[in-house]
Amino acid sequence: MRNRRAALSAIAAAASLALTLTACGQSSEGGSEEDKGSAEGATIGIAMPTKSSERWIADGNNVKKDLESKGYKTQLVYGEDDPDQQVSQIENLITQGVRALIVAAIDNKSMNNVLQQAKDADIPVISYDRLILGTENVDYYASFDNEKVGELQGNYIVEKLGLKDGSEKGPFNIELFAGSNDDNNTRYFFQGAMNVLQPYIDKKQLVVRSKQTELNQVTTLRWDGGTAQKRMDDILTSAYKSERVDAVLSPYDGISIGILSALKSDDYGSKSKPLPVVTGQDAEVASVKSIIADQQSMTVYKDTRELAKVASNMVDAVLNDKKPEVNDTKTYDNGAKVVPAYLLEPVAVDKANYQETVVDSGYIKESDLK
Ligand code: GAL
Repeated sequence: MRNRRAALSAIAAAASLALTLTACGQSSEGGSEEDKGSAEGATIGIAMPTKSSERWIADGNNVKKDLESKGYKTQLVYGEDDPDQQVSQIENLITQGVRALIVAAIDNKSMNNVLQQAKDADIPVISYDRLILGTENVDYYASFDNEKVGELQGNYIVEKLGLKDGSEKGPFNIELFAGSNDDNNTRYFFQGAMNVLQPYIDKKQLVVRSKQTELNQVTTLRWDGGTAQKRMDDILTSAYKSERVDAVLSPYDGISIGILSALKSDDYGSKSKPLPVVTGQDAEVASVKSIIADQQSMTVYKDTRELAKVASNMVDAVLNDKKPEVNDTKTYDNGAKVVPAYLLEPVAVDKANYQETVVDSGYIKESDLK
């Protein structure tokens, strides 16, 4: 009996240690079974894709802060761009008894099983920024107007090359880059940009010398800047022996920085060989600095503080049996259902307006740009 009691208390101690350890793991206090029942003080699981990009660090912190200000506890985990790791992190969150999940997926098609587990445990799921595909077990989607992001990038190129308003200028050489093929946003960004660029390609005012124009030829796995740099290097070597590239469609700042490195190694950036127009997205500090230094041309600013608020409000509403605010119930079909969405507006940023858009709004500190 003594032994049995000792064994039981050892198990209890180990279990409580394990709980404390998981709770301390990434963020703050863990959830417990006692939380079930009322939304008050419930723990919300937040699964973010990677810490390798500033924006996701800010996203995670902002969602955490917003939920905590509403009285929730949080568990914030980062999958380090490994889809399997992210799935097992979410499984852990479910086992720990979180009451809702906010997920920015790494691979949007890898979530079926784990989200079935969430459904079975009655845990609502908010798809954050990136739409999770192929499962009914996604309740709401919080994001930006992703097609508009691409349109802003495409329009910027067209405007800077002076092609707008029926001008017959050109031909100009352009190369196209897209994001990760396992991220649903990628095709929306690309589609939005091509809506604008394709007519000029058709009229031969824009020429893609590499001939790589299909989405599956231009994606960049995991949005990796090094991968993009290598592809740009290869394109410059093979398709630009005597020609100059005038514009590069880049979907994301990390990719833009990689592209710019390839261009600079090929002596772009001088009077005789100016840098092409290079787009971007996310208003990351390195890219805003690059814009100020006349290298990257523009970025698309998406105020992730607002996105965090939208997602936290959705969780709060669902857990209190209220309907979250949505403004799009048509666009985001994930293959299993149309996911009701709240979409925020992206904003084009260049040297002319970075101060009022990203600095004056407090998104980036002026001192970080020095
Ligand atoms: C996308 C996101 C972009 C950018 C990219 C790379 O899903 O919408 O804003 O952050 O991932 O992280």
